[in-house]
Order: sequence, then C-alpha cells, then structure tokens
Amino acid sequence: MRDNAPNSWESRAETYSFYGFTDLPTIHKRGTVVLTHGEGPYVIDVHGRRYLDANAGLWNMVAGFDHPELAAAAKAQYDRFPGYHAFFGRMSDQTVMLSEKLIEVSPFERGKVFYTNSGSEANDTLVKMLWFLGISEGQPQRRKILTRINGYHGVTVVSASMTGKPYNAVFGLPLDGFLHLGCPHYWRFGTEGESEEQFTARLAQELEDVIAREGADTIAAFVAEPVMGAGGVIPPSKGYFQAIQPILKKHGIPLIADEVITGFGRTGEMWGSVTYDFMPDAIISSKALTAGYFPMGAVILGPDLSDRLQAASEEIEEFPHGFTASGHPVGCAIALKSIELIETGLLDQARALIPQFEAGLAHLAQMDNIGEARGKGLMGALEAVKDKATKTPFDGSLSVSERIANTCTDHGLICRPLGQAIVLCPAFVMTPAQMEEMFARLESALKQVFAEVA
Ligand SMILES: Cc1ncc(COP(=O)(O)O)c(C=O)c1O
Repeated sequence: MRDNAPNSWESRAETYSFYGFTDLPTIHKRGTVVLTHGEGPYVIDVHGRRYLDANAGLWNMVAGFDHPELAAAAKAQYDRFPGYHAFFGRMSDQTVMLSEKLIEVSPFERGKVFYTNSGSEANDTLVKMLWFLGISEGQPQRRKILTRINGYHGVTVVSASMTGKPYNAVFGLPLDGFLHLGCPHYWRFGTEGESEEQFTARLAQELEDVIAREGADTIAAFVAEPVMGAGGVIPPSKGYFQAIQPILKKHGIPLIADEVITGFGRTGEMWGSVTYDFMPDAIISSKALTAGYFPMGAVILGPDLSDRLQAASEEIEEFPHGFTASGHPVGCAIALKSIELIETGLLDQARALIPQFEAGLAHLAQMDNIGEARGKGLMGALEAVKDKATKTPFDGSLSVSERIANTCTDHGLICRPLGQAIVLCPAFVMTPAQMEEMFARLESALKQVFAEVA
C-alpha cells in the first residue's frame, strides 16, 4: 500500500515531520497522504490520486482548494504590502477595513476586533482579556472559565484547558480554574425516560449549581460552540442556549460563542449564534474567516466587553498583548475577499446544498449500525454503533471509525473519524453531483466495514 523506498514521499514525510493528532501505527502501515494541490473540493496527492475532501480540509476550506479570486486577492496584497504588524499605533489599511467589515457582519451593533493567527490563540487572547478586565475592575478573583465536556477550543495551554477532552490529561491539563460542564448531547447523555426538555433543564440546573458552588464573582466567562465540532458535531439539545443565557445574565457572566467552525455560514446562517437565536458577548472566529487561505483568528467583542476593555486599557495605557502577525495585511485582504464571496454567493450555495446533505445523512442513518445521524447546516456526523436499539458502541479495539475513514481514503474520499462517529463538513462549492458522489462512496465504505466487524 505505501511506498517504503527511503526516498519516497511517504518515507521522507515520516522521517522528518513530527505528526500531531495522527495515529502513528496506522501511518507506519498505510503511509502519509502527501498532497500537491486541489481542484474545487478535491485534493490530489503526489501519485496523482484524487480525493473528494468531505471535511473541507479541517472545516475551513469553504471555497474549495483553488478559488481564483482568493488567490488573486492574496497576490495583489503581496505585491502591494506583503506584511505588517498591528503594534504601536500602526496597522495596515486592510486591517482597518476588515475590522469594520467584521463588526458589520457580526450580530453586534458595534464592537471591536483583535486578531490572532489561529482559533487557539483567539481563545487564549479572550481569556487574557477577561483576566485583564477582572484585575483592572477590582475583581482579581474573577478568573474561572466554564466550558463543556466534549467542547473543543484549541491546543495552546489555555485553549487546551478549555477543551473538554480527556486526551489533554497527557499534558497534565486542564489548568486549575477551567471547569467542564455537561455536554448537551441528548441522544448519548439523556437518561432513561428523560425528555429532551428535561435534559436541557438538567444542564441548566447544573450550571446554576456550579455557579452557586464556585461563586459567581469567581467566573470570568462561559464559552461554548453553538454546535460542538471536534467533539463529534453535536448540536445543542432543544432550548439549550435559551435555558442557559438568562442564568449567565443573572449572574453577570459573559457568554462567549466559539464560532471557529460555525462562523461564516456553516450552519446555514452567517453565525451559529444566529441559527440558535442567542446573543453572545463576544465571538471567537477563525477557519472560514479566510476560507482557510491564511492562518488567522479573531476575537470579535460586542459593545459591553469592548467598552470595558477599552476603558481598562486606557487606564494603564495599553493592552499588553499581540502577535507579530496579528492583523497581517495579506490575511486581512484574503478575509475581506472571503467574506465578500460568502455574502455574494457562497452562503446561498451552502444553503441550497443543505436539504441534499440532510437527506444523505438521513438515508445512511437507516443502516443497522448507524445509531444517530446529527448535525446542522453543512456539518454532520454519523455515529457507528454495535447495537442500534441499546446505542451500544463497538468495542474500541475494532477502531471502527478509523477503519471507515481509511476505507473511504482507499475509495478516494476523505472524511474524519471522531470517537465512533464519521464527520462530514463539505466545502460550500461542492456541486450536487459531487455531494452525491460523497454519500455514495461513504455508503460503500460503511457497508464494507460493517460487514467486516458486525
Ligand atoms: C471551535 C474551535 N475553537 C478553536 C479551535 C482551534 O483553532 P486552531 O486549530 O486554529 O488553533 C478549533 C479548531 O478546530 C475549533 O473547532
């Protein structure tokens, strides 16, 4: 299967690159897929094999892999002004225009934007902002961050502490003061005889209890993805945000929407918080912000937090934080183009695909070994189970979702295993025919693997 010659791409990749989030025994056996370029939603490897990427890279390449206008925007900006920072009272004109645009397209009537290079850094930046605010407002104890089990917020020390996944124990994380509340996945965590409304009420009560136990004035924020992404594509249970937002408001705790995946159309609206009808105090953005054509993240602050941070910063003269490439002019020019494309066509394209996407998921959900099909907009997951009636998962040693993903790769389809689920998150530029191809390839891979393991 893999080319073992020492000068093969596979061997060179493995000899010199240190891999993250990669199952190393599988890579030793199968070899790395080394890619050279993309065409629309397809990527092509060094051997000329084509793969339909059902995950749009890592949820981000919404405009596909060869959008000429994004490449042209990058080229034009590289020719004009290839790089600058946003320190010491200087920033590029592109940065000014992007902040203006982001506030315009945000749910906020006004606000301010701070740039990073990634979603993880945006979450770290947010936490530093809140800690800074606590200290400057005479509440230095207000430092705790509430997130949820299975929430994913990144990999830097703070954002990994926010992430509610057990694998961070290998780093001795989370840090103290990062508390993970219940995951709003009714299908998996609802108890016998509990209605979805009762389940939501139970999570809201848990939040009340945690606030009472910890003290409201020790909590800096509650941070949540509108739809959990890397936790397995988990939409909130019915009425979830409507139940928790008033509790947070009552206790003066900001609600932050981590829209790194859900921002810019993924759920069918510009923002996941719009889809789920709640108003956050700030939004964390990345990924589709530049359609994946530049590493960039942003903290988009609503009116209250931006006013308070501005006041606190003025008091000590500055907010001592920033990255060399914060607000990079090329990234900002690409983001401006990406938002223009989303506003003038890509979002409509995504919306038009949603019924076919939902129908495809619903069709596969009929299989005996698919326990749940879930998702929102153009993000979805299929949960593999050994027993549909009891929701019993397959034995972990079978690595079912990895097998499915590997079988898909062999059939020219890239999709991602997450726990025992398979995740789909197509580019908005996928045509209906390509989406049909995606589901057909996935169905044949599922049939093959379930025949092997069931
Ligand atoms: C919701 C969410 N927040 C934060 C991050 C971290 O972003 P990055 O990988 O750019 O650091 C991710 C990445 O997948 C994410 O899905």
